[in-house]
Amino acid sequence: MSARPDVLVGFMGAGKTTVGTRLAELRGGAFCDVDREIERRTSRSIPDLFTDGEEALRDLEETVVRELVEGGETRVVALGGGALGRHGTRQLLAERARVLLLDAPLDVLWARVEADGGAGVRPLAASRHRFEDLHLQRRALYMTAADAVVDAAAPPAVAARAALDAGTVRAGALDRLAEFAEGRRCLTIVDAPVADRVPDLGPRVVLPGGEGVKTTATVEALWRQMAEHELERRDLVCAVGGGAVTDVAGFAAATFRRGLDWVSCPTTLVGQVDAGIGGKTGIDVAAKNDVGSFHPPVAVLSDPTLLATLPDREWAAGFAEVLKTALLAGDPLWTLVRDWPNGRGPDEARPELVRRAAAHKERVVAADPREAGARATLNLGHTIGHGVEHAAGGRLLHGEAIAIGLAAALDLSAAHAGLDPAVRDDALRVLARQGLATRADGLDPDAVLAAMRADKKRVQGAHRFVLLEAPGRAVWGVELDDAAVAAAVAGVLA
Ligand SMILES: NC(=O)c1ccc[n+]([C@@H]2O[C@H](COP(=O)([O-])OP(=O)(O)OC[C@H]3O[C@@H](n4cnc5c(N)ncnc54)[C@H](O)[C@@H]3O)[C@@H](O)[C@H]2O)c1
Ligand SMILES: [Zn+2]
Repeated sequence: MSARPDVLVGFMGAGKTTVGTRLAELRGGAFCDVDREIERRTSRSIPDLFTDGEEALRDLEETVVRELVEGGETRVVALGGGALGRHGTRQLLAERARVLLLDAPLDVLWARVEADGGAGVRPLAASRHRFEDLHLQRRALYMTAADAVVDAAAPPAVAARAALDAGTVRAGALDRLAEFAEGRRCLTIVDAPVADRVPDLGPRVVLPGGEGVKTTATVEALWRQMAEHELERRDLVCAVGGGAVTDVAGFAAATFRRGLDWVSCPTTLVGQVDAGIGGKTGIDVAAKNDVGSFHPPVAVLSDPTLLATLPDREWAAGFAEVLKTALLAGDPLWTLVRDWPNGRGPDEARPELVRRAAAHKERVVAADPREAGARATLNLGHTIGHGVEHAAGGRLLHGEAIAIGLAAALDLSAAHAGLDPAVRDDALRVLARQGLATRADGLDPDAVLAAMRADKKRVQGAHRFVLLEAPGRAVWGVELDDAAVAAAVAGVLA
């Protein structure tokens, strides 16, 4: 776990105190709210201090934040949004803290503030209109300072758990590896295309990347390297690369000496929003991912600037998973994705995309770490998508098959779960803008259905579909009759 204190930022109603108190318990340290601390020290209220001028208040804030962040006892700090307007404070946080944005849809925030006494308690919440304006202004500031977004619409216990495990998403994130490696032996396992982007932490193994590395032979080679470099239980594995590399390196870490700590550094879009998060590790023996373990990394460090070298096809395939996540998460991610321009979009928007998509997975995993329930929703588009992937026999990337699977799942959702067909059409446009096909060329529907039946046998019983009622509202475990499934499959085959 990061040695740095966590600094929680977020709008009124996000639950900085509730979530912060719980997070501090999980981290085994104290919680401190900067505003309350300033009031305590000055014996004056914040609104009263404001009358001395904003500059004086920001000075005070900067001093208090520095003391808390550098003091060592406080593990979790709650900070008012205005403080981020200060360059000095932002810089201090970037260097010394992990900044977590507690984020919830505006309606949720407003409802909480109203229930809490509304404008009587918080003058800035005088009107919904004003509340919205201020929220819009603050959002940009939060996003430039945040290392991670935490879904604060979740119950406080889930949000705190997600905050604990939230990854750092920012340019230069890998520089922080040294912090985790300090004082212990470290083996770095890195995907070839990013080998020169990783700080030197001692011995390293460069893997060629791609699905082909997820074998027992790779795992044995990694175990032998760990043995050769005398890694013990207290030592560390740093896994840097696409999902294939983090899966196999995480699995080797999970099993060597019954489990070493590892840091996951995903370098593909799929990795940063999905594969690098959540603690599932594994390899392919008789079938994909059939051998593995749950072994959560101690930290996830994602540098979105690494995505610049990703081949276009890999980016687009990753975007299919981003779309899936956005449909499950609802706003604000859904709007961001729905309106995403062609391809990779603007540089400055990419960290927000990754942070919000990662936040959804972190939240779902926090609520269901061992896949006993709600985590199943992450399979939206995957039941038919897997069938398509198998039937295509290697011609399609996983994400490309999922784009087709999503199209089918959204058709089924419109027919059986009351999804507004306009949402399906929006989603299809998102995929088209990424150059992803939403129909499979020349695939035999029987081959797709046969592959789905083989999948179904493995999970013993009926196909259970994840369907979408609306963005942000999924249902899972839905059984559909064969005719409906066959029609959906036929519908996405050209
Ligand atoms: N553990 C999980 O929860 C989970 C979830 C989803 C997927 N996965 C697994 O993830 C794997 C797919 O991951 P993926 O989509 O990242 O593919 P990948 O790991 O195969 O990487 C794709 C390609 O990109 C290269 N690459 C990596 N980073 C790069 C960069 N920054 N610039 C240029 N090239 C780069 C790799 O060498 C590889 O050739 C599958 O094995 C899948 O089973 C795991
Ligand atoms: Zn997937």
